[in-house]
Amino acid sequence: MTVTWRRQGDAGLVELANPPVNAMGLAVRQGLMDAVKWAENEPGLWRVIVSGQGRAFAAGGDAREFDGDPVPPHLPDVLDAIESSTVPWIAAAHGVALGGGAELMFACRYRIAAPGTNIGLPEVTLGVVPGAGGTQRLPRLVGLGGALDLISSGKPVSATDAHEMGLVDAVADDPVAHAMALDMALVRDRPVLSTLDGPASDDDAVETARATAHKRMRGQIAPQRAIDLVALSARAPFRDALAQERATFVELRTTDQARALRHIFFAERAAKAPGWLDAEPRPVDRAAVVGGGTMGAGIAYALLLAGIDVTLLETDADGVARAKANIGRTMDQSAKRGLLSGEKRGRIEAALTVTDDYGAAAEADLAIEAAFESMDVKKAVFGRLEKALPTDAVLATNTSYLDVNEIAAGLADPSRLVGLHFFAPAHIMKLLEIVQGDETSHHALATGFALAKRLRKVPVLSGVCDGFIGNRILARYREAADTLLMDGTNPWELDEAMVAFGYAMGPYEAQDLSGLDIAHANRQRQAATRDPNRRYIPIGDRMVAEGRLGKKVGVGWYRYPGGGGKVVDPLIEDLVREEAHFAKVERRAFTDDEIRRRLVLAMINEAADILAEGIAQSAADIDLVTVFGYGFPRWRGGLMHHADTLGADCIVADLRTLEAEDPIVWKPSAALVACAEQGIRLADYRSDR
Ligand code: COA
Repeated sequence: MTVTWRRQGDAGLVELANPPVNAMGLAVRQGLMDAVKWAENEPGLWRVIVSGQGRAFAAGGDAREFDGDPVPPHLPDVLDAIESSTVPWIAAAHGVALGGGAELMFACRYRIAAPGTNIGLPEVTLGVVPGAGGTQRLPRLVGLGGALDLISSGKPVSATDAHEMGLVDAVADDPVAHAMALDMALVRDRPVLSTLDGPASDDDAVETARATAHKRMRGQIAPQRAIDLVALSARAPFRDALAQERATFVELRTTDQARALRHIFFAERAAKAPGWLDAEPRPVDRAAVVGGGTMGAGIAYALLLAGIDVTLLETDADGVARAKANIGRTMDQSAKRGLLSGEKRGRIEAALTVTDDYGAAAEADLAIEAAFESMDVKKAVFGRLEKALPTDAVLATNTSYLDVNEIAAGLADPSRLVGLHFFAPAHIMKLLEIVQGDETSHHALATGFALAKRLRKVPVLSGVCDGFIGNRILARYREAADTLLMDGTNPWELDEAMVAFGYAMGPYEAQDLSGLDIAHANRQRQAATRDPNRRYIPIGDRMVAEGRLGKKVGVGWYRYPGGGGKVVDPLIEDLVREEAHFAKVERRAFTDDEIRRRLVLAMINEAADILAEGIAQSAADIDLVTVFGYGFPRWRGGLMHHADTLGADCIVADLRTLEAEDPIVWKPSAALVACAEQGIRLADYRSDR
């Protein structure tokens, strides 16, 4: 039974019982409908109290059903039945009341929430709109402005805020007990929301919501459609608007955007240790972090926030002072944003030791090295860690590009080493690439996955290659961008084309932020092993030679006068033209579509190789890497999901036309060719490696 009911005195107690979060699939909807009938036929019943079993009131419609046709009873009909029932319903919520769960509350005559309950309508984050009266009942309850905020952002509010805005009638530790004690004379005569007049219209609020949604959820259809519907609540009769809401919900749920957002939602939840990983993780109470630069300090802070004691190791007193300053600055920023209380800061500071004495890490369960990207430096660090830490502690490197197998080879026991590749800022970015070297033990890997869970990060397993999954795709993206730059575009055209695709910023602005010297150092490192026949674009090297290292020095692909926002630098065009002249390139114009086509194809082709080589375990893992580490638009579902919407056969055909231009760079990946030949999606492709 996914919905249960029983009688207690004059009350009917209805409970949603569909673990883990009471998603409202078909069985729950049918159960609620049956509960309405039961209550109406039960003599002497004064109230029905609906609550949720387990950790949630209800997480909303079952998103797994959204790919199929809607099956009755539909939620709007169930909620209509509750609203018009002869016995008044009272919502007693705890945990989360999201989507259909919140809409169930709106259909009740009285709403109570336990402290800490999160209430919201997150449908737009799944590419749909509320589909069971949310866009019409909520504005009647809290006014147009409040409803616009909640529905167009998808962000939930706490029970306290919900109470303040009139969304719930009471906050109580035990909502069911509170409902039992209510004077029903007060509740009985309350009008149900669908019979109330719509809210006063407010064109300014609607326009503001549109502009905000356009900025924060650029390219996405659902937020704008949701705003249309909320605005309608001020103009159209309830029933007419409800019919439009339902039609919009049904229309949107099978769109590419909704499918893509569902895909990422479920992929994120499925990201965990692979089934074959049979070893137990090492519990991590104490960790050592080596290197107190931006990355090391960020990793240390992430560990501290998760309640792990940290010894942050530096080389000398200056390093110690710098590391302390870096962590202090990060904590200041968190405190300023209201994310770190004084008390928590005190606890974190007490759990942190910053020192140049490796002996202080003698009891660490795990060490994460985030030192300078040099093989010699890393080997020396691990030599010291091997001496200082217990012999069974797990050792991890945060290297972005260096060969994990070569680092491991320097250890007495290479099986202790795993790659843990964090993304800056490490306490915020959700991606964690877990790199498995040839010798990495299952125990070390399992420790990495357990740590990711503790830090609430999205773990993705990667094999060893240059750049692992994410930076390898990034390097190809940049190479393709530099080629377009040489052949006829400029950084701002390229950036704008990719922003229009859905990135928050284009490749050149992003590189200005991270620093041009990093990519330059990588190209230098790869020089010896690079295919001499592969076309090489030296513009980035020239930029570095001229000291244009990016925002940190005030000038890169753009200029940043006074350390402020970016300004187009016409000198770049001269520099690029000059390089093209040296390389005897005849430049030509590229449309935005051509730019996007080439950059996206380049990434897809590289990612398909990563799949074929078994570096990534699945296309969904690549989707997680690109969305959570590199800003690929979530509403396109990640790079491989996007590729599957284009179709492997079309991609291969497209690559073949570009191959005529440059057969090395555009050679279609074996994985794409296999998918095209077999008519399967990349999502279903499995490498035999
Ligand atoms: N439909 C179907 N399944 C859902 C679901 C939904 N609306 N909400 C959660 N689940 C599933 C998750 O996929 C996960 O399944 P798994 O255990 O098989 O991996 C399980 O419920 C637990 O969810 P999880 O997110 O891991 O737990 P949590 O405690 O971290 O978060 C929620 C719980 C409810 C806050 C979160 O899952 C959520 O935001 N859900 C979506 C709510 C929503 O958007 N509703 C509107 C739908 S239109």
